[in-house]
Amino acid sequence: MNLKKTKTEIAKYVSEKRKQKSTIGFVPTMGALHQGHASLIEFGLKRHDYIIVSIFVNPTQFNNVSDLEKYPRTLDEDASFLDKYKESVCIYAPTPQEVYGDKVVSKQYNFNGIETVMEGTHRPGHFDGVGTVLNHLFRQVNPDEAFFGEKDFQQLLIVKKLVEIEKLPLKITGCPIHRQENGLAMSSRNARLTPQQLEEATFIYKILRQVKEDFKTKSAHTLRAWVTTQFENNPHLRLEYFEISNIKNLKPLSRKRTHQKYRAFIAAFSGEIRLIDNMAIN
Ligand code: PAJ
Repeated sequence: MNLKKTKTEIAKYVSEKRKQKSTIGFVPTMGALHQGHASLIEFGLKRHDYIIVSIFVNPTQFNNVSDLEKYPRTLDEDASFLDKYKESVCIYAPTPQEVYGDKVVSKQYNFNGIETVMEGTHRPGHFDGVGTVLNHLFRQVNPDEAFFGEKDFQQLLIVKKLVEIEKLPLKITGCPIHRQENGLAMSSRNARLTPQQLEEATFIYKILRQVKEDFKTKSAHTLRAWVTTQFENNPHLRLEYFEISNIKNLKPLSRKRTHQKYRAFIAAFSGEIRLIDNMAIN
């Protein structure tokens, strides 16, 4: 497996591939790779000769020290997981110093309001951290296109805005949410759940499915009340937020329904593990 640890090494790799007229796709990750990440890589490999997968647990996007410390770090397993892609995938696994230089700090961004709802409300500074690290990584890797999961739909919109703000010459593409057979959205955080908690967490998917079904006939207000009650009656999961939002600007759906497209979003805790999921509902 190709593994680069410095920005000089990754720049050299990319410039050699470019000389051969190859195109480069990029899948930024924080590691603990799973089938959800693989689905992005495979999406990217259909369009590009090579995919670079960055593995970097970004300190600036965690608003909770314990979450950062407990985030799984499994570089050896991740490298084995990617072995099957042979030469078509290269890992970029830098240190914080390599990505940030001496000061590991966030830049402050104005993402036009997309950053102030949902994850933005509950994780202060999170999207500044995501924007900052991706700004560095995009400049270091210099790909033609980067792939992001709709699992983190708000993040996907933020990244599209980021490349506009920073005037970066790459295309941002969203890819569908990869789920287990029982509907649970794959996530690196699932590795911290017990088998029982994993089973209980499928509740989130079931609620989203029902919201999608009922969206045809019920108001946003009724759906919000219903979801809140469902979680109140569930002893295993604690709801942090439920929103039905416009997919372009993430404005919550008000009483007056328009012909815009909406998605339903949930963040909930299983014990101390925070899980998010979302679904297109019309
Ligand atoms: P991470 O959580 O490792 O996710 C990396 C990418 O994989 C993101 O684009 C995420 O949306 C996607 N992904 C995760 N689970 C998925 C699933 N079940 N189906 C489809 N895509 C999935 O997101 C981050 O890392 C970080 O914030 C990062 C962008 C790397 C910046 O540090």
